[in-house]
Amino acid sequence: MANETVLLVEDEKLIRWSLANRLTKEGFRVLESDKGAGALKALEETQVDLLLLDYRLPDMDGIQVLREVGKRFRDLPVIMMTAYSTVESAIEAMKLGAFDYLNKPFEMDEILVTIQKALETTALKRELGRYRREHEERFGLGNLVGHNLKMREVFDLVRKIATSSATTILLQGESGTGKDLLANAIHYASDRAKKPFMTITCSALPETLLESELFGQEKGGSMDAGGTKKGIFELSDGGTVFLDEVGEISENIQVKLLRLLEDRTFKRIGGVADIAVDVRVIASSNVSLEQVAKEGRFRKDLYYRLNVLPISLPPLRERPEDIPLLVKHFIEHYNREFKKNTLGASRSAMLALTEYSWPGNVRELKNLIERVMILENKEVIDVDDLPREIIGRQAEEDIEQRFELPPQGVVLEEVERSLIEQALKRAGGNQSRAARLLGLTRDTLRYRLKKFSLEGSEAQLK
Ligand SMILES: Nc1ncnc2c1ncn2[C@@H]1O[C@H](COP(=O)(O)OP(=O)(O)OP(=O)(O)O)[C@@H](O)[C@H]1O
Ligand SMILES: [Mg+2]
Repeated sequence: MANETVLLVEDEKLIRWSLANRLTKEGFRVLESDKGAGALKALEETQVDLLLLDYRLPDMDGIQVLREVGKRFRDLPVIMMTAYSTVESAIEAMKLGAFDYLNKPFEMDEILVTIQKALETTALKRELGRYRREHEERFGLGNLVGHNLKMREVFDLVRKIATSSATTILLQGESGTGKDLLANAIHYASDRAKKPFMTITCSALPETLLESELFGQEKGGSMDAGGTKKGIFELSDGGTVFLDEVGEISENIQVKLLRLLEDRTFKRIGGVADIAVDVRVIASSNVSLEQVAKEGRFRKDLYYRLNVLPISLPPLRERPEDIPLLVKHFIEHYNREFKKNTLGASRSAMLALTEYSWPGNVRELKNLIERVMILENKEVIDVDDLPREIIGRQAEEDIEQRFELPPQGVVLEEVERSLIEQALKRAGGNQSRAARLLGLTRDTLRYRLKKFSLEGSEAQLK
C-alpha cells in the first residue's frame, strides 16, 4: 500500500508527530493540518486518498468537517479519532459516512490495520462502481435493437414499468428472442439498478437444489451442509430475481413461489421464521405458459399471478425489417471484439438473410454473423459466405415467386418466348449455354427459336 496520501488532521502536536512518523515509515505520503478549515483547503488542493480526522479541533468540530467532506468529496474514506468518545458521536460519525471510529489512546498497529481496510474497501467500491457502469452500458435498453412496431411497443412498455412499483413481470418469446437481454435491461433501467440482479435457470437444476438456491436453507435441513445458507430471494433483497424458464418448476416450488409473490414472504428450507423481502420477480418462458397451465403442468393461480404484466417478444421471422439493423449491430460488435473491419453485407446476402425463417431467432443470427466473421475475412459479407440452409431457402422461394401464376392468368407462349430471350441474353447469345439454362437440348432450342422467329436475332449470331 505504498504512496497513498493520507491527510492527518489533529491539533495535538505529539500525537500528530508520532502518527505522521509512523505512516511515513509505512510508505504513505502524509499531509498534516491542525485545523478543520486547513484540512478542507488541503483537500481542495491535493489528491488525498484517506482522511484521519480528530473529533475535537480548535476551529470546528470533526463532525462538521465530516459533513463538508460528505458533500464535497464523497468517495473519500474518513477515519475519526477522539479521546472523548461517546456512543452518540460514534453513531453520528458513522451515519455521516465515516469509515470507522477509533478511541484514543490507540495502538499504532490498530490504526494501520484500519487505514488498510479503508483503502481496500474504497478501491473495491470504485471497482464495483466501474463494473456496474460497464454492466449498465452493456445491458441498457439502448442495446436492444429493433424498429418493428411490436418491438417499439415492448421498449415503451419496458420504460414505463422499469421505474414503476410493479413487482412481477412475465417475459414470453421463443428461444433466442431476447428475454435474457430484456430482463437485464428492465433491472438496470429501474430504481433497483444498484441492488443485485440474480438469474436462475429453473430447468437447469434438480428440484431440491433449485428450492434451496431460491429460498435458502437452515442448519439441520435435509441437505445439511453446515451453516445456514441464504437463498437468491434473500440475497437480492431490494433488487431483481430473474426466473428463467419458470414453466419447468415443480408443484412444490410453484406453491412457495406463489406465496412469495402474494405476501412477499417465505421460509427457508428447514426454517420456521417468515422472511420478508422486497424483490421484483421477472419470470420467463419460451413456451406459452398459458398452454402449460391448461395442460395441468403449471398451477393456474401462479400463472395468473405471474401474468399481471406480460411482455411478448415476437419471433424474428415476424419482424424481418429488424434483420438489417441487427446485422449491422452484430457486425459492429464483432468488429470490436475480433478487431476486424467488416463494413456490412451485400444486397444479395441481406436479401437471403431477411428471407430466412430464423428458427433460433436473434441468437441464430448473432451466431451466424460471428461465424462468418471468424471464417471469412471479408470487407463485405456476400451471399456465398452464408451457409447453405440460408441461401437454399431463398433460391427455392425465388423460383416459387417468379413462377407464381398471376390472378389474371398468362399466355404461355409469351412466357416461353420471354424466357428464351432472357436465357439467350444471359448466355451472351451462346445457344448451347442458353439451352442449358432452360433445361433443353440445343436442337430443341433451335426448333423453338424458329417457332418464335427469334433465329435471326442478334444474339443468336454470335
Ligand atoms: N433486440 C436485440 N438486440 C440486440 N441483441 C439481441 C436482441 N435480442 C436478442 N439479442 C441477442 O441475442 C442473443 C440471444 O438473446 P437472449 O439470450 O436474450 O434470448 P432468450 O430469449 O433469453 O433465449 P432462451 O429462451 O433460449 O433463453 C443474445 O446474445 C442477445 O444479446
Ligand atoms: Mg434466456
